[in-house]
Amino acid sequence: MVTFRQVFRSTFLFLFLIIVSCTPPEDPIKCFSKNTNCTITNSYGTFPDRSICQAANAVYPTTEEELISLVANATKGKRKMKVATRYSHSIPKLVCPDGIDGLLISTKYLNRVLEIDLQSMRINVESGVTLRQLINEAAKAGLALPYAPYWWGLTIGGLLSTGAHGSTLWGKGSSVHDYVVALTIVSPGGPEDGYAKVRRLDESNSELNAAKVSLGVLGVISKVTLQLQPLFKRSITYVVKNDKGLGDEASSFGLKHEFADISWYPSQHKAVYRIDDRISSNTSGNGLYDIIQFRSTLSVGLALVRTTEENQESLGNAEGKCISARLTTTTLLTSAYGLTNNGIGFTGYPVIGYHNRLQSSGTCLDSPEDALITVCPWDPRVKGEYFLQTTFSISLSVVKNFIQDVQRLVNLEPKALCVLEQYNGILMRYVKASSAYLGKQEDAIDFDITYYRSKDPMTPRLYEDILEEIEQLALFKYGALPHWGKNQNLAFDGAVKKLKNAGEFLKVKQMYDPTGLFSNEWTDQVLGLKGSVTIVRKGCALEGLCICSEDIHCAPNKGYFCRPGKIYKNARVCTLISEKKQL
Ligand SMILES: Cc1cc2nc3c(=O)[nH]c(=O)nc-3n(C[C@H](O)[C@H](O)[C@H](O)COP(=O)(O)OP(=O)(O)OC[C@H]3O[C@@H](n4cnc5c(N)ncnc54)[C@H](O)[C@@H]3O)c2cc1C
Ligand SMILES: *[C@@H]1O[C@H](CO)[C@@H](O)[C@H](O)[C@H]1NC(C)=O
Ligand SMILES: *[C@@H]1O[C@H](CO)[C@@H](O)[C@H](O)[C@H]1NC(C)=O
Ligand SMILES: *[C@@H]1O[C@H](CO)[C@@H](O)[C@H](O)[C@H]1NC(C)=O
Repeated sequence: MVTFRQVFRSTFLFLFLIIVSCTPPEDPIKCFSKNTNCTITNSYGTFPDRSICQAANAVYPTTEEELISLVANATKGKRKMKVATRYSHSIPKLVCPDGIDGLLISTKYLNRVLEIDLQSMRINVESGVTLRQLINEAAKAGLALPYAPYWWGLTIGGLLSTGAHGSTLWGKGSSVHDYVVALTIVSPGGPEDGYAKVRRLDESNSELNAAKVSLGVLGVISKVTLQLQPLFKRSITYVVKNDKGLGDEASSFGLKHEFADISWYPSQHKAVYRIDDRISSNTSGNGLYDIIQFRSTLSVGLALVRTTEENQESLGNAEGKCISARLTTTTLLTSAYGLTNNGIGFTGYPVIGYHNRLQSSGTCLDSPEDALITVCPWDPRVKGEYFLQTTFSISLSVVKNFIQDVQRLVNLEPKALCVLEQYNGILMRYVKASSAYLGKQEDAIDFDITYYRSKDPMTPRLYEDILEEIEQLALFKYGALPHWGKNQNLAFDGAVKKLKNAGEFLKVKQMYDPTGLFSNEWTDQVLGLKGSVTIVRKGCALEGLCICSEDIHCAPNKGYFCRPGKIYKNARVCTLISEKKQL
């Protein structure tokens, strides 16, 4: 007789055998036969519209010469191309070649640091180098990239193309692209160029303003030279305050501290100010920032958190969300968000250490291969985090009004934004106006908002309406610009009209890639060249694919109807009205 135990054991063994994949994130490119018949997605395994993209082939050049010949061959064959990276972190469908005959050119093996010039303090890297490699190699030479995204898994080519940034109002600002002094880009060419044209652009060439933030539509960036600074030390202290004065303090705080940022927990009426400054290198301290949310995490724990969240959502348990929110906020605060004074323990503020050990992290990328026992929290192979992200920047001149509008919404619905706090609230970071044509237009605060996404696209979220109203307030009342590498579709509606140099960008695009081999449906929509970024269909507003104009864009069968906003009457949001609102 076969006992339960034996069945259990063999099932368990079987599960183990089929989970042969390792713990580091999967390659976002999967091919059914050797580098042909491929699919691509992002690191979360889901694009905003939940589709998976296809490509006929994927290629992995290891040298610039090889890259040039691949671009030439594809250009000659009039094939659509797209650059893919090792992890493909961008949320929107930037990486999809149109149709099914396209070519994916991966920069996975274009990952060498080529030269560090100590005299000029410049580093020249291949575009597939990760932020982490760049930071480490620069530090070995006693140099530093002053401002950077907080997650080191991004590639230089990818983070430039989407305008990625850290936080500062000092110097040239926090966007990495504003420290590019030269780059090499390989674009389609005519027969006279051998079908590929290689351009080395430096600061004297205005085309660099197009190429340094390009959404990948100008060709493949092969090499990038960045201006660095001498390595320095920083001193970090987090201070918790009531958020009453946030509107007044937000702008000036960024001027006072070089690496300032703010984590805002609106339903808890709290703001955590990061007081973070450059200090003399002879100050003692060897602090380390290993951001908790970017650490390798136990899959069983992730599943537990997700199940709790799913239950709270399905029961409409707002109070439960607020309890989870307070717990998360307190836990992160008491564990200093992952800061330690010496790489081992946290003994108190300030945390002092070298910039390269504090600026970015992402230790889940090199967790051991343990058959998915531990993963990055958003790894799509396990039941873990599954979220939507809304990220936009609002000019400093109006940011106070925006913050106060959000506070008015919270006064009307005190528990509404507990849904954010479980994802560590709203991260506010400083960005400066840029010379990049697709860069920031004004000095601004970037708001990074992460929240629950249902596995079922037709299921509304708790306080759906409040978050939709905040998004529309930002984008349409305050003219916010979306982060090109994050967001759902509606955030890009009209975005290109907010850029004063969009025309200059399109001129360069016309010159570099006149037939749009590096463009796709998504980039054409974002750049205002063809069709609309929004997708109008049943339930489309539930996941930010559209702004509702009819009830069917929400979920009328579940009581969610398309209604005006509560304080921004021009907003159209999916509002729960047929049932008694849960308290
Ligand atoms: C955990 C996490 C934390 C993050 N933190 C931050 C943050 O602190 N600040 C911030 O601003 N953003 C942040 N982001 C978002 C991030 O900036 C973007 O998603 C980033 O663009 C992704 O970089 P990637 O290397 O994965 O590029 P991908 O997403 O693979 O590519 C982005 C685009 O660039 C194109 N591209 C890539 N390489 C090249 C090249 N060599 N030549 C031409 N085109 C190219 C691709 O075709 C694609 O269109 C974060 C993302 C994650 C997942
Ligand atoms: C691609 O792979 C899928 C899955 O194996 C298969 O069904 C399909 O026929 C393949 N297409 C081509 C063109 O080979
Ligand atoms: C060049 O392109 C053709 C089709 O356009 C393809 O069949 C061939 O494999 C390509 N060669 C290389 C080296 O990529
Ligand atoms: C540290 O450096 C500062 C100048 O950068 C100097 O004034 C100070 O004396 C130094 N302190 C020590 C202990 O060396």
